[in-house]
Amino acid sequence: MDSFKIKGPVKLSGEVSISGSKNAALPIMVSCIARPGIYTLNNVPNLRDTRTMIKLIETIGAKVKKDNNQVIIDSRDCNNPEAPYDLVKTMRASFYVLGPLLSRFTTAKVSLPGGCAWGPRPVDYHIKAFEKMGATIKLDRGYIQADGKLKGAVIDFKVSSVGATGNVLMGCVNVDEEVIINNAAREPEIVDLCNFLVKMGVSIVGIGTSILKIKGDSNNQPVNIIHNIIPDRIEAGTFITAAVMTHSTITLKNINIDHIKSVLDNLKNVGLKVSVNSETSIIVSHQGEIIAQNMITDVYPGFPTDMQPQWIALMTLSNGESTTEDTIYHDRFSHIPELLRLGANISLNKNIAKISGIEKLISADVMCTDLRAGAALILAAMVSDGTTSISRVYHVDRGYEDFEYKLESLGVDIKRVSVK
Ligand code: EPZ
Repeated sequence: MDSFKIKGPVKLSGEVSISGSKNAALPIMVSCIARPGIYTLNNVPNLRDTRTMIKLIETIGAKVKKDNNQVIIDSRDCNNPEAPYDLVKTMRASFYVLGPLLSRFTTAKVSLPGGCAWGPRPVDYHIKAFEKMGATIKLDRGYIQADGKLKGAVIDFKVSSVGATGNVLMGCVNVDEEVIINNAAREPEIVDLCNFLVKMGVSIVGIGTSILKIKGDSNNQPVNIIHNIIPDRIEAGTFITAAVMTHSTITLKNINIDHIKSVLDNLKNVGLKVSVNSETSIIVSHQGEIIAQNMITDVYPGFPTDMQPQWIALMTLSNGESTTEDTIYHDRFSHIPELLRLGANISLNKNIAKISGIEKLISADVMCTDLRAGAALILAAMVSDGTTSISRVYHVDRGYEDFEYKLESLGVDIKRVSVK
């Protein structure tokens, strides 16, 4: 189990290239199962999670070639509609395979995802939606057994769910009748998935809105598709927050500026300066005080919950009191006890954290509890006095490509220590 040793405080300088989006790549990779074909995906981040997804689609029978950030998936000979517990337990997104399997094979056996680091993350919306589309779903010793030819339906999501929207979209690939999703997720990763499915021959009206009208095609003719994955907006947000916390100036490349609008707008309120370099590159800088600001997370285009831990880390050094409320995950706060170990002043009441800004953080031994909590600890370590040791960084490896090398190239003194 590797750990990082980070020496702080540090100033950043230089430029960083943002990788492809983990949360767009995962559903797009698994959707290749829904229709036989050869799929060439570019800008796929090389992460623990994308490697797990490759293993999953290989167990279903796909042949996968990977060369750096290009992944070629040949799904013509898939024949095993099953997702084993061993893979699903390591990555919840494996559950997205239910839609593509049901759509292509009219049967699927998929392990229920286990627990998550920060509390219950049910998949009841996914299951209810497929039942509404005509599938019979049974729970069998920890596995979902789903059977039946999917048909047209109107799906109303009580809460806008990224995963359930994606799963249903992929389930529609071979459905000739119309499926309507009301209160669909509007995240850029869902838009990227929609654009990919359209290349597969699926008709989708309302892409990027909360009402999607989808019509697939059961002809099942093999396809040959090339697609570039969108940039990772959460990785971009993480590096920009690092620039603010260290009062630095850095350049980000390979970004989509629209996708990070809410993050940029909120960071500008705490003092960030942004200049646009080109359509896909910005220079960000911060000097002086970090202005305390309250934050409430929301679904896209609101402030993303996947930036909440990094935001709290930032507010620990602000010039006053602020609150951060997570409306998506009410108990996504396992990073707070670790930030307290670095000397932060934070109290938590249900899903609202109250942060009292302090002068500086002091290094200590801390532990990653999940992907974004890990990112927040790395940011905090970069501004802490002394050398901080962060254990269980395998969480961070799930979602940040070449993180320590990118940070090192910006001037961070970071070492990976492998503990056998
Ligand atoms: C996706 O998770 C992302 N994961 C998460 O990013 C992200 O935090 C989340 O969307 C919200 O933006 C991937 O894309 C792989 P949801 P997902 O379904 O799809 C409730 C990261 O750090 N809900 O939009 O699982 C749920 O509990 C990860 O990269 C149900 O109650 O999230 C939550 O409160 C972490 N029943 C809310 O909806 C359901 O069946 C939103 O969840 C489904 C969801």
